[in-house]
Amino acid sequence: MDRIIIRGGAPLTGTIPISGAKNAALPLMTTSLLTRDTLELSNVPRLADVQLLLRILGNHGVDHTIVGRRAGESSESGQTLRLQASNVIDTTAPYELVSRMRASFWVIAPLLARFGEARVSLPGGCAIGTRPVDLLIDALQALGAEIEIDAGYVVARARDGLRGARIDFPKVTVSGTHVAMMAAALARGESVIENAAREPEIVDVADCLNKMGAKITGAGSARIVIEGVTSLHGANHAVLPDRIETGTYAMAVAMAGGDVMLENTSADLLRAPLDALRRAGAEVSETNTGIRVRRNGGALAPVDIDTAPFPGFATDLQAQFMALMTRADGVSHIRETIFENRFMHVQELARLGARIRLDGDLAIVEGVPQLRGAPVMATDLRASVSLVIAALVADGETTINRVYHLDRGFEALESKLVRCGAQVERVRA
Ligand code: UD1
Repeated sequence: MDRIIIRGGAPLTGTIPISGAKNAALPLMTTSLLTRDTLELSNVPRLADVQLLLRILGNHGVDHTIVGRRAGESSESGQTLRLQASNVIDTTAPYELVSRMRASFWVIAPLLARFGEARVSLPGGCAIGTRPVDLLIDALQALGAEIEIDAGYVVARARDGLRGARIDFPKVTVSGTHVAMMAAALARGESVIENAAREPEIVDVADCLNKMGAKITGAGSARIVIEGVTSLHGANHAVLPDRIETGTYAMAVAMAGGDVMLENTSADLLRAPLDALRRAGAEVSETNTGIRVRRNGGALAPVDIDTAPFPGFATDLQAQFMALMTRADGVSHIRETIFENRFMHVQELARLGARIRLDGDLAIVEGVPQLRGAPVMATDLRASVSLVIAALVADGETTINRVYHLDRGFEALESKLVRCGAQVERVRA
């Protein structure tokens, strides 16, 4: 298994191009199942999760091509995928594939809406606490699906098609909102999603669905209205920038010091995390093409945060912010309100010398003057990148094991950091 070795101490200076958002690319790719025409997606990041979803879609009979590079595109420009689901041969998504990535469960919605049936494995355990799919199933039932659990599979049927309904989510769920929106796009009549997730990735998927002929209004607010249509057609769509990657590099600069332009992204995607960074002492400014982050010396101030659904502080940036706070001049409180058990990075950060105490959903972080390099283990996607951030300032060398977690979600992580002066090296297994 590959390892990443980081020698701490170098500030970051230069430009980092931000990739397309993983969490939009995955549901966008899934929407290709809703039409027999070609869906062309550009700015798709080159990530292990994207490859895995291509395999899953391929298993249903979706053809894909990766379009060659065009004039003006660098090797860092995202890839363009063409997906065509004109010949779906199988509406079953097997355990071997779904268990490797939770978001692949979401194929249940387009398969059910277009073909009247789907048999999709329950996703199974996940490293960040219990992540059930009950609300997704409730939403599909509200739209008229008959659901049965059979040998670890969710079997969904709607022989006469889905029908519009009111779906009132008892808690904000990104997965539930995606699934409800995709399914309702082809349902008969009007659907209303109440307490919908407002994440930018929901808006991006709604935009793409509308280009495909869907009639969706209100995405980005807590109430989404969907007028069902009988069929959808092909479209071209560019994936929006990755706000989690943006925030991660912004925190890396705040930690290591320096001056970096984050290109092809927008501050509108992450106001709360940028605000927390400013309070911690980083200078953050917006330009036409991105965000500039600077910190030149000076202590980091402790900042308290609670994670929350968008537009609050993203849970996917909690571990990275905690890494930053391990070096703050004082005590900070970080509360995780979205997922249970999303503190696995704490024990690894402690190996680098961080002082963090856990009390239920609260982490109390006492800043220390220095971290020291050590061997550590990547436990999940966002946790592992928090170790990278800590390692950028740790004395000596940090070896991060199990970096396949990073490859799931961060495109070209080492080269993006190395071009800004960090000492990062991948050792291939
Ligand atoms: C998505 C993101 C993930 C991010 C999360 C929260 C993708 C591919 N993943 O995950 O990176 O951390 O949003 O912003 O986009 N819940 C239930 N029942 C359900 C569904 C969810 O109880 O049926 C709970 C979850 O356990 C969690 C909360 O609702 O506590 C939010 O989950 P959700 O917003 O659905 O997260 P994901 O869509 O899985």
